[in-house]
Amino acid sequence: MNLLFIGDIVGDDALDFLVSNLDELKSKYKPDVLVANGENVWNGKGINEQEAQILFDAGFSVITTGNHIWENWKSRPLLATNNNVLRPLNYPSGNPGKGYIIFEVNDIKIAVIQLQGRTFMQSIDCPFKSAENAIKNIKKYTNNIFIDFHAEATAEKMAFAKHFDGEATAIIGTHTHIPTADSQILPKGSAYISDVGMTGPHDSVIGMDTEIAIRRYILQTAHKYEMAKNDMKINGISINFDEETGQAYSIEHFTYPKFINSIGV
Ligand SMILES: [Fe+2]
Ligand SMILES: [Fe+2]
Repeated sequence: MNLLFIGDIVGDDALDFLVSNLDELKSKYKPDVLVANGENVWNGKGINEQEAQILFDAGFSVITTGNHIWENWKSRPLLATNNNVLRPLNYPSGNPGKGYIIFEVNDIKIAVIQLQGRTFMQSIDCPFKSAENAIKNIKKYTNNIFIDFHAEATAEKMAFAKHFDGEATAIIGTHTHIPTADSQILPKGSAYISDVGMTGPHDSVIGMDTEIAIRRYILQTAHKYEMAKNDMKINGISINFDEETGQAYSIEHFTYPKFINSIGV
């Protein structure tokens, strides 16, 4: 089977760009399952019901998110009511939403887990312990487990991936919006990339207006972020896997429209 994962979608223009170019990605990678990270769709922070529906209508089964989902109050009812929109599992209990889901595609069970790192981020519950518990529960039903590990530090992502190598089909890094050139199959069979990168305007600083971002760093004071507009690109990965064992065969990172690829086998 093939799972196509789309990196953090930044803004509604990026959502439109993704949906209008999805057929080309579908014809190239022939995915059976589509998953996207949607934590930045709504003007950079969160995702609303209409935006989520656009992704579901386009064929996406699951939307993962991350730290930015909490910054828009209006995303919370969506988390509370739609189990196909995930938030990191390891936030303290009492927050709305679910951190993993098991669903079926052509009678094959697939699980997606969302977790968040703690290095240079909120000091939430341990992602390792949370993953261990979730994987134990999920393994009763399926070996096809895809983890979106939303984290800032590459070392934390790599340590997490090496610890869970062989326990998940893929460990997919998100959050930094910058793709890494390290897509690979780890020794025990899990596909891995430190960060998929973003789907959004690349004439920017990680999706935001360049001048404003520079001003924030030089002046060291708050300046309202605005979304950038130009040079739309989609960053994603295509993972081929054995749906009986849950082992990954290959992982390929792509940046569309140029299809600059790095393939890990
Ligand atoms: Fe993001
Ligand atoms: Fe994030």
